[in-house]
Amino acid sequence: MSSVIFVERDGSRRVVEFADGESLMQAGTRAGVDGIIGECGGSCMCATCHVYVAEDDDGKLPEPDSMEADALEFTALNVRPTSRLGCQVKLSAALDGLTVTVAEA
Ligand code: FES
Repeated sequence: MSSVIFVERDGSRRVVEFADGESLMQAGTRAGVDGIIGECGGSCMCATCHVYVAEDDDGKLPEPDSMEADALEFTALNVRPTSRLGCQVKLSAALDGLTVTVAEA
């Protein structure tokens, strides 16, 4: 099974297995990753799934679509060039080993 690595705000690393097609937010909330909440259920409205993708992994993901880009611009705090909304990142075996850091609140 494939897995993703979440780095929590205190620096703890959590290795979370995922199923193909699951979102990064779903994997994080299922595993109880601290700081991944998914308040809007994945509707791109709350930014409580905001993460920073590790720079080495950033090129593995497609660019954010306009809805995600708008939510990052208008809803998320402490946005960086590697920011993504976890609910918009669909996981697949190609992303095995992806590392993301829970965004600053
Ligand atoms: S869960 Fe709300 S924007 Fe991702």
